[in-house]
Amino acid sequence: MRFVPVLVLLLAGCPLDISPESGSIPSGPPPGPGGGTISYQSDLQPLFDDTCVVCHGSAGGLDLSSRDALLLGGNSGALVLPGDPDNSILVQRVEGSTLGDQMPLGLPELTTFEIALIRTWILEGALDN
Ligand code: HEC
Repeated sequence: MRFVPVLVLLLAGCPLDISPESGSIPSGPPPGPGGGTISYQSDLQPLFDDTCVVCHGSAGGLDLSSRDALLLGGNSGALVLPGDPDNSILVQRVEGSTLGDQMPLGLPELTTFEIALIRTWILEGALDN
């Protein structure tokens, strides 16, 4: 899947260009704590609400109705490893690259774009943003 990293780069380059306007911001990596180009609340939660929460609500097991619940994990333990999308079960399940059914069960697979949103959010530290 060579095009995924390219897409991630495109995504990462797109939204907020946080170039400091004055010299008041110290040097260092721009997307600091609280940063991130993907917003959990506006980019991911609506996707989960539409396609996952019907099965993964708050009734037990994996709960995809909020970031905090997602980070609690499921029967397999932690599903999101901040900074490491390749080894996050959440990503592996929607890509169909691990044991178990590909998610969302019984529905069309997520688009490359949607998966890139999830990957980038995890890569950026699975922020509460
Ligand atoms: C039709 C119901 C259904 C839908 C919709 C669904 N899932 Fe699932 N999901 C399940 C079931 C049942 C399991 C447990 C059985 C299994 O592992 O395949 C599961 C397991 C999982 C697991 C593994 C949990 C663990 O602890 O091992 C993840 C991650 C997951 N789903 C993510 C998602 C995501 C993300 C979506 C939406 C894009 C989604 N699912 C949509 C039914 C569903």
